[in-house]
Amino acid sequence: MENIDDTVLELIIGHLTSGEKSYHDGLRVLVVGGAGFIGSWLSESLVSLGANVTCLDNLSTGSLDNISRIKGKSNFKLLISDVLNVELSGEYDLVFYGASMPAPDMYMANPVKAMLTDSIGLYRILSKTLDWRSRVVYMSSSEIYGNPEVVPTPEEYYGRVNPIGLRSPYEESKRFAEALTMAFYREYGVDVRIARIFNTYGPRLDPNSPYSRVVTRFIERALRGEPIEIHGDGSQTRSFTFISDTVSGLLKLASCSKCSGEVFNIGSIEEVSIIDLAKTIIELTGSKSQIVHVPPRPDDPRRRKPDISKAMSKLGWTPRVSLIEGLKLTIDWFKRRISFE
Ligand SMILES: NC(=O)c1ccc[n+]([C@@H]2O[C@H](COP(=O)([O-])OP(=O)(O)OC[C@H]3O[C@@H](n4cnc5c(N)ncnc54)[C@H](O)[C@@H]3O)[C@@H](O)[C@H]2O)c1
Repeated sequence: MENIDDTVLELIIGHLTSGEKSYHDGLRVLVVGGAGFIGSWLSESLVSLGANVTCLDNLSTGSLDNISRIKGKSNFKLLISDVLNVELSGEYDLVFYGASMPAPDMYMANPVKAMLTDSIGLYRILSKTLDWRSRVVYMSSSEIYGNPEVVPTPEEYYGRVNPIGLRSPYEESKRFAEALTMAFYREYGVDVRIARIFNTYGPRLDPNSPYSRVVTRFIERALRGEPIEIHGDGSQTRSFTFISDTVSGLLKLASCSKCSGEVFNIGSIEEVSIIDLAKTIIELTGSKSQIVHVPPRPDDPRRRKPDISKAMSKLGWTPRVSLIEGLKLTIDWFKRRISFE
């Protein structure tokens, strides 16, 4: 039987050039939020590329399960601690900062902690990089665009965000974090780069978590034959990016020698409405689930689609996994993990 984790890892590594692979070999890398969904795939890819990886995570939404394939490896170290009070003793050549609270239900329930992690937590790590002289990749989000008037949205678009809305703890801390990252670049010359990641899905996005996001929630409901809830009429769109494409984009950005102080959209250009996503998942799972409509979420963006010309030309990155292919892999992965009692 095909091992889907191996398939995802092969897709990630297969996207990299030999120069990008050798850049990571032997590097000392700190992945903040490294036991999370994206962070664990990043950590696993880096371990397989020969980097010496330290994963810092408080396991609030991340899990030991996510890193079970690399936990015993000699070039992997786990530091269970909160970025808000961790004392770091090592030194690192490269830092990925991905500690955050990206799930809306979670950051709406814990808005203060969400904001502190992407501000004070990031400040603490950026300050350390002055001594380490590390390169930093900050993992930002398409959410900084808010509800954009320009779609496909290029990096030059400033965003349209409600600063006091229910989504603001996430959107505004991501915006602050980008500004702070650029401040360290301009004032102290830290070698930073920013990835604006669009909705990413795939294996390890926990469907049993109360905070699980739209793709996994729909897959879980469909596999159980339970109703699929859609906020509003479902005409709002997203560009769902398969995990292997997001992670290869991050690794390419990290190894890019001419990307200091630059920001890149990392996301799929295959835009789909939420109602069509639900219908596709019902079809792919052969489910009897019904679609039910619930009130729209406040400030929910109407459309989300990146302009990725900059990543294509400067990083040589384009997403490779289609929505159907990615959904099939994700559904197969979840089928083997969901218990149906
Ligand atoms: N998944 C997406 O669709 C998406 C989209 C855009 C941006 N991003 C960004 O990518 C990054 C990773 O997101 P993800 O989807 O993997 O989410 P995730 O919740 O799986 O990962 C976040 C990780 O950070 C850890 N963490 C949170 N607060 C921490 C703290 N105070 N100290 C130490 N560790 C802490 C969590 O335990 C978790 O392992 C985040 O910065 C997120 O904003 C994700």
